[in-house]
Amino acid sequence: MPRILALGESGQLARSLAGLRWPAGFDLAFIGRRHLPVDSPGAGIHAALEAANPALVLNTAAYTAVDRAESEPQAAAALNVELPRALAEACGALDIPLVHVSTDYVFDGEKRSPYLETDAPNPLSVYGATKLAGDRAIEQAAPRRWAILRTSWVVSEIGETFPVKLLRRAKAGEPLRVVDDQWGCPTAASDLARAMQTVGSRLLDDDAAATGLFNFRGASEMSWHGFADRLLSAAETIGLARPSLQAIKSAELNAPARRPAYVVLSCARIQQTLGIVGSKIEDEIDRMVRRILAT
Ligand SMILES: NC(=O)c1ccc[n+]([C@@H]2O[C@H](COP(=O)([O-])OP(=O)(O)OC[C@H]3O[C@@H](n4cnc5c(N)ncnc54)[C@H](OP(=O)(O)O)[C@@H]3O)[C@@H](O)[C@H]2O)c1
Repeated sequence: MPRILALGESGQLARSLAGLRWPAGFDLAFIGRRHLPVDSPGAGIHAALEAANPALVLNTAAYTAVDRAESEPQAAAALNVELPRALAEACGALDIPLVHVSTDYVFDGEKRSPYLETDAPNPLSVYGATKLAGDRAIEQAAPRRWAILRTSWVVSEIGETFPVKLLRRAKAGEPLRVVDDQWGCPTAASDLARAMQTVGSRLLDDDAAATGLFNFRGASEMSWHGFADRLLSAAETIGLARPSLQAIKSAELNAPARRPAYVVLSCARIQQTLGIVGSKIEDEIDRMVRRILAT
């Protein structure tokens, strides 16, 4: 039975992959942090892939705590650089297609028009810098079939995401302050999972499938404040009293990590070469809000 091996287990993207419909006869297995050495999650990857003998590898594992990464650069690098490097080398040696996920935070946000895959990165944070180094490690290892989906503001009802934290505070009746000077595109984890599935299937089925770096994101561009406003409006329609929502500037937060002000990604390449188009987050918001408020 062809096996798909996903790195990551309880994260929002890993769980969204688990929630997809997979072709009959495919077996989806997950490797989480409990299966990997804490300090060097890349060690032993080759042996693990040899033992599992997957037809396809999907890497959702990453160090995603953007602020904490500033004080834990080694832990961030172990997951965001060394793990993808080890995966790419093992996938190359064993000729297994690899799909990995990167971030818009590799950019500094100064361009002010949609970023292409070919634009020069300039990360502002340890998280962005380690993710960029991971992308470069994969490009350098160059397995025969590989793809990196560079994505933006991944959200869902799973884990400590922006919508979950916002609605928890709204439920508690707390006044909310959200930045309106960072612009990007919320991407539903389920949408990203479907894109990963499609890209992976193409790499598996078609030896001539396009490889390399692809931007992928939700279709709607907004600020975090605009996104918060839409989430609260959806919550209000199902009975949650609307708390006050104040627009603030990023500088007021004094966050340890700097974030780019404008990180809209151009998705022309993935649309033209693979026919993949991101969904509007507005189509996901009602479902997401209902699930969050039900818990
Ligand atoms: N969240 C965003 O806004 C965002 C934006 C752009 C790009 N991305 C990228 O999208 C991808 C998926 O992110 P996500 O939001 O799904 O992340 P997430 O919910 O924070 O999940 C992180 C995953 O990494 C795994 N992991 C963490 N520490 C580990 C360790 N020491 N050893 C092995 N695995 C470990 C976790 O494994 P367990 O399941 O075992 O806990 C979990 O499945 C990542 O590449 C991320 O950089 C995310």
